[in-house]
Amino acid sequence: VYSAERLGGASRVWVKPPYRVTTDPSQLDLDVVHDFLTGSYWAEGIPRATLERSVGASVNFSLIHDTEGQVGFARVVTDCATFAYLCDVFVLAPHRGQQLGRWMCTCVLAHPALQGLRRWLLATRDAHSLYARLGFEPPRNPASLMERFDPTVYGGKGEDS
Ligand SMILES: CC(C)(COP(=O)(O)OP(=O)(O)OC[C@H]1O[C@@H](n2cnc3c(N)ncnc32)[C@H](O)[C@@H]1OP(=O)(O)O)[C@@H](O)C(=O)NCCC(=O)NCCS
Repeated sequence: VYSAERLGGASRVWVKPPYRVTTDPSQLDLDVVHDFLTGSYWAEGIPRATLERSVGASVNFSLIHDTEGQVGFARVVTDCATFAYLCDVFVLAPHRGQQLGRWMCTCVLAHPALQGLRRWLLATRDAHSLYARLGFEPPRNPASLMERFDPTVYGGKGEDS
């Protein structure tokens, strides 16, 4: 379960007025996150309870606007020691195109509890260039990666990624 201890004791915050990125769970607006994710191509139809469970076991980054509240999100599934999977990255449409998505991902990669990992993974349909600038690249040896994947599990259309 998400705990401050797991992250070395304290929430982190990065500030770029009027925005901030924070790992503070008390600032996470799950309604906003669920509203977005349930309509996304990769988590369409995700039940609220499933999202709550995933957030409870992840390191979560909220992009907050001073007056509008939660306007973006990113989630990291990780052991905080060897491996991390970056997922559920979004910025709400009115706030896009200001480098906020990239900044939020930069904050994710800078988190002190997520240093020295052997591998980061992510899946994306069309945002490769966003992540390429942050050091992500196509797997050097794709044949070494395998998956068990059921994209229909939430009852959505079951799109890839
Ligand atoms: C992808 C997303 C998070 C980008 O957020 P943003 O704040 O608009 O992105 P930024 O302003 O930081 O710009 C990101 C850069 O990535 C590029 N990019 C690559 N793929 C992109 C995509 N699918 N959507 C938006 N930008 C993308 C942009 O062109 C931009 O490059 P530039 O700086 O050379 O112009 C946002 O568009 C979004 O929430 N999209 C819907 C959800 C989604 O697809 N999430 C990604 C899942 S892997």
